[in-house]
Amino acid sequence: MRTSMSKILTAVTIARVALSLDVSGTTKFQSSSKRGLVYISSEHSSDDQIWVEGNSDLTWYYDYTDIPIDAYSNRSQAEFEFVPMLWGSANSSAFASEIRSQMTAGRNITHILTFNEPDGSASTGGSEISPADAASIWIKDIEPLRNESIKIGAPSVTGSQNGLSWLSQFFTNCTSLGTNCTVDFIPLHWYGDFQGLASYIGQVVASYPNTSIWITEYALPHSDLKTTQSFFQTSAEYFDRLDYIERYSYFGSFRSSVSNVGPNAAMLTQDGQLTDIGSWYLGGAATGNSPSSSSSGSSPTNSGSTGAGYKLNSWKSGLQALITTFAVFNFGIWF
Ligand SMILES: *[C@@H]1O[C@H](CO)[C@@H](O)[C@H](O)[C@H]1NC(C)=O
Ligand SMILES: *[C@@H]1O[C@H](CO)[C@@H](O)[C@H](O)[C@H]1NC(C)=O
Ligand SMILES: *[C@@H]1O[C@H](CO)[C@@H](O)[C@H](O)[C@H]1NC(C)=O
Ligand SMILES: *[C@@H]1O[C@H](CO)[C@@H](O)[C@H](O)[C@H]1NC(C)=O
Ligand SMILES: *[C@@H]1O[C@H](CO)[C@@H](O)[C@H](O)[C@H]1NC(C)=O
Ligand SMILES: *[C@@H]1O[C@H](CO)[C@@H](O)[C@H](O)[C@H]1NC(C)=O
Ligand SMILES: *[C@@H]1O[C@H](CO)[C@@H](O)[C@H](O)[C@H]1NC(C)=O
Repeated sequence: MRTSMSKILTAVTIARVALSLDVSGTTKFQSSSKRGLVYISSEHSSDDQIWVEGNSDLTWYYDYTDIPIDAYSNRSQAEFEFVPMLWGSANSSAFASEIRSQMTAGRNITHILTFNEPDGSASTGGSEISPADAASIWIKDIEPLRNESIKIGAPSVTGSQNGLSWLSQFFTNCTSLGTNCTVDFIPLHWYGDFQGLASYIGQVVASYPNTSIWITEYALPHSDLKTTQSFFQTSAEYFDRLDYIERYSYFGSFRSSVSNVGPNAAMLTQDGQLTDIGSWYLGGAATGNSPSSSSSGSSPTNSGSTGAGYKLNSWKSGLQALITTFAVFNFGIWF
């Protein structure tokens, strides 16, 4: 994967690599309204509030389903925008009516995500849909939602050459079915270093000029803290600077003890306190909380959290548990 990416590095994207920012102590990280939450269920329900407290920069979230999270359900779309997703092919015919009924009930839905990693295998979080099947589902169940008030994202392919060829086939299949499947933005995933990320984005921009981009999952997994923090700062600065990158959502919003992308990429310590990255992501200053060490102060929820693993019992339904398990193990492509 990384070898093949290195072949497509371009001068344009390399030139855009930013220097790592000097953010430390009480200096707040740059603010941005592009930032959103990839919602991952926590066995500690209090963790859900961290992302919306105080002066959090986060303006939107998605949870891989078409149902908002209870903890945020009384926040208006203007306060914290819920972006529904049609995850896979199951139940696609119910999707549009679910969206319409939420809108009738007063939720002002303006953006929709579709098909989580359709080119990926189920074992790494993919929804395993062929481009042709996705094209016919899109035309039947998604296209009718596409109007001036709802903007729709392209299928959210894996961050790989396979992902891009899946996407290209999807559009071809749509056209041969008589509809162009026009998208309003292209969501991308990336697990790897910054140079690869910038190169990947450059490749997408070259293939789909004039289309807005959302980075809906990204991280540098399993690296040392300094490199991980530098990746975070450089990529956030890059996303904030480029107008065609409309939104981004970092992976992730969980405790280091249950992180599947390595402890240093997590935004919470094992005790549920913001790490430096977590605080920067919300527009705050470094906390000095080391991702994998327990804080000296006692936290009411910390006993037994070490090595507790992922618990799915707080999920509303088996389907959601399944979907989110996929989401949580959704980084295989990087390896
Ligand atoms: C719902 O709104 C009320 C009033 O603003 C607030 O006190 C409460 O915390 C909110 N509930 C949730 C789950 O956010
Ligand atoms: C399909 O959607 C309906 C309505 O939201 C839900 O009750 C049902 O459990 C879903 N079935 C599957 C297999 O997802
Ligand atoms: C756009 O689609 C939504 C959902 O189907 C619908 O409620 C709304 O009336 C539509 N708006 C227009 C302008 O067609
Ligand atoms: C819905 O949200 C959009 C985007 O923020 C806004 O332009 C529009 O006025 C809102 N519509 C309603 C009915 O609140
Ligand atoms: C979908 O597109 C691909 C690439 O153009 C093509 O090989 C394939 O035959 C198409 N499938 C269908 C069912 O049209
Ligand atoms: C699809 O796109 C092509 C090229 O832009 C255009 O000529 C054609 O009219 C479009 N077809 C539909 C059904 O919108
Ligand atoms: C990009 O979008 C602008 C504004 O919508 C349009 O004027 C321009 O022709 C587009 N360029 C390309 C290459 O599609």
